[in-house]
Amino acid sequence: MKFGHFDDARKEYVINTPKTPYPWINYLGNQGFFSLISNTAGGYSFYMDARLRRITRYRYNNVPLDMGGRYFYINDNGTVWNPGWSPVKTELDAYECRHGMGYTIITGKKNDLKAEVTFFVPQNYDGEVQQVVLTNEGSTAKDFSIFSLAEWCLWDAQDDCTNFQRNFSTGRVEILGSTIYHVTEYRDRRNHYAFYTVNDTIDGYDTDRDAFLGSIYNGFDNPETVKAGKASNSFADGWSPVASHYKKITLAPGETKTLIYILGYAENPQDKKFASTKPEGLLTREAWVLNREKADAMIEKYNTPEKVAAGLAELRATWDNLLSIFKVDTPDDKVNRMVNIWNQYQCMVTFNLSRSASYFESGIGRGMGFRDSNQDVLGFVHQIPDRARERIIDIASTQMPDGGCYHQYQPLTKKGNSDIGGDFSDDPLWMILSVAAYIKETGDWTILDEMVPYDNDESLAKPMLDHLDVSFYHIVNNLGPHGLPLAMRADWNDCINLSCFSDTPGESFQTYTNPKFKAEGGYSKIAESVFVAALFTYTGPAYVGILEHLGKTEEAAKAQAEIDKMKKNVMESAFDGEWFLRAYDANGEKMGSHECEEGKIFIEPQGFAVMSEIGKDVGADIKTLNSIDKYLNCEFGLVLNNPAFTKYYIQYGEISTYPGGYKENAGIFTHNNAWIICAEAYAGRGEKAFEYYSKIAPAFTEETSDIHKTEPYVYGQMIGGKDAQNFGQGKNSWLTGTAAWNMVAISQYILGVKPEFDGLRVDPSIPAAWDGFKASRQFRGDTYEIEIKNPDHVNKGVKSLTVDGQAVDGCIVPVAGDGKTHKVEVVLG
Ligand code: GLC
Ligand code: GLC
Repeated sequence: MKFGHFDDARKEYVINTPKTPYPWINYLGNQGFFSLISNTAGGYSFYMDARLRRITRYRYNNVPLDMGGRYFYINDNGTVWNPGWSPVKTELDAYECRHGMGYTIITGKKNDLKAEVTFFVPQNYDGEVQQVVLTNEGSTAKDFSIFSLAEWCLWDAQDDCTNFQRNFSTGRVEILGSTIYHVTEYRDRRNHYAFYTVNDTIDGYDTDRDAFLGSIYNGFDNPETVKAGKASNSFADGWSPVASHYKKITLAPGETKTLIYILGYAENPQDKKFASTKPEGLLTREAWVLNREKADAMIEKYNTPEKVAAGLAELRATWDNLLSIFKVDTPDDKVNRMVNIWNQYQCMVTFNLSRSASYFESGIGRGMGFRDSNQDVLGFVHQIPDRARERIIDIASTQMPDGGCYHQYQPLTKKGNSDIGGDFSDDPLWMILSVAAYIKETGDWTILDEMVPYDNDESLAKPMLDHLDVSFYHIVNNLGPHGLPLAMRADWNDCINLSCFSDTPGESFQTYTNPKFKAEGGYSKIAESVFVAALFTYTGPAYVGILEHLGKTEEAAKAQAEIDKMKKNVMESAFDGEWFLRAYDANGEKMGSHECEEGKIFIEPQGFAVMSEIGKDVGADIKTLNSIDKYLNCEFGLVLNNPAFTKYYIQYGEISTYPGGYKENAGIFTHNNAWIICAEAYAGRGEKAFEYYSKIAPAFTEETSDIHKTEPYVYGQMIGGKDAQNFGQGKNSWLTGTAAWNMVAISQYILGVKPEFDGLRVDPSIPAAWDGFKASRQFRGDTYEIEIKNPDHVNKGVKSLTVDGQAVDGCIVPVAGDGKTHKVEVVLG
């Protein structure tokens, strides 16, 4: 069952009921100011950091879900309704929500009054513009009132939802004309403020939440002022400050009125915090006066419908440009809409926000993840390489001199997060991959010379290349008894915690050190990760390629020898006969072996092992891929492990705490489904690659939205696996490495358009039924118009490749570098 449809021409998903199986959200903003907005206008805004600089308040885990957002209430002769249905939930005569690229348009209609609200964050602008267009579609005049509502968060979202003894007494606001300012703590230790304004006169306002609602026993669904059709002109002093504008409107039949609201954020330099004169009419209880110049300028920028239209046009143009870098035209509409629109859009969002703020990530739990952000670069780097470069350097700056890494950092401070710490065995490798991806995309080798601090300490700065060296050797220098990488606290799978042995509630599986490993430095020196071994052999060649390019032949040979040795060690100790083991636990026992009672086979190491060609000479690759199909494949994707754990295995940790079929315990983790899609494509098995791709790609799950629950336009982290009661049900949508990896899987492995150090590889692995496809790729200043022909209906194999009519050997299109458009023709066979 569907709850809307794709409008590809407008790059929108159109939702036709407010009652989606879960709030279906969108993100506004792609630079500093961000908003989350659901299809009923729920959500919140923040600047840079969802934890430290939260602008509006949001209550996670609320009942009902998704209460709180930016709301417009209309009182039309006693009928109170919202254009987005919520929070009052009056049945509407018509409803539609269009989520587009950085904007959302929600339209509601009741008793012949239509309200169309466009929400967006303009480019280079720290505010959310909300344009409300009201139209009387009836045949008689209408008198009604409209109330806006935003609830301020007292900046630090963590403190805001815990420290009530203090923060019920700190809230401060000011009001000037139609603008309400939020200035809590401004006088003292903050130099930022927020404001909410409307481009018209108002008939009243409210800034105290309880006064707006009329009673502490009322919810957002039942505000007394709105019902009474009159604001109470409250001035907040502590408690919960809000911003609400009240306006009376009369519309003749057919008449339209447009109001533009702006929810903005501004910072003042320390010496320009205060104004010297007090504007007339300023409502304040302060002795000081806010310097509101920045807000004034921001308001000026979007105070007419023409300016709003221009801002929206600029935003659309930005996205059209971003999405023109890589475009495809395949025989499958769903593939086209994923590749050309939604997967790329999600890659931008994950790049911006890592795993910080979504409807499943509270914005206070995690900042930017080291491994997460490096992987996000893989799907985003072609869009804005300069931002990828800056991000890579920020991340690398939190690395330790020995190659270890802080697992997370806060975007506002860019400092490593010490309460989580480090010692995640996979972290350093992802940085090799992201740096290599950046160079392959741009050909900009200078990133390797960039001086980058260790541990955020400038005095420890070394060239970026040094960071790659220590990353690579961090693996080599931390091997266990079988010559495989130590698992440390965890690898990619945060829930396999081989050094934890936790039997006490509250111990964090990821950071708790069992006393028995304390003396050894915080983790077992026995437990080894086969996943990290495979990731090492997959990633290592990129490092070797970099060294070779730099003419460091000896270093390259030395690194290659380590990779070869690792492959040998894996074949000797970690090939189980039909697939690769997952790990050796701290007792030296095999994990993920046919000998195990449960969790006999795991997905994670397999794809990278196959793509590293470990044991290919003895058929290990095909055996492994067939085992995945046999044991992990099910209707909605590939489960992470099988059989699911039904008991608590203290030696494995968190993974065995989840009921079977969810999360890392045999859930369908879409992130590592992508690794298998890549591996199947790599092995030339285009049918299987495409089967797995289409099982999890959101556009393909649209028809089963009632089962899937989460948005049909973006990936979620996890889908309930075959052991779950809710088989096929998605969770944790939006912020997941799945976005980047599936972008890589479809674009570089299935469609086979893959940047390399020395050119653009074109080597697809597609369903044999396809006659071919077209792709357009901007690459290092040139544009390549690629046409793939598949006359013999094969899966893979480049029979011939021509560039502007000239035959090229192999399948790498050399870099032309003349800024022109080139025609690439590839014939498969
Ligand atoms: C989450 C984390 C990611 C981790 C994965 C598996 O997606 O963000 O870092 O690799 O879970 O545990
Ligand atoms: C939990 C989640 C995992 C996530 C981790 C992040 O373990 O299950 O998916 O990566 O938390 O800390």
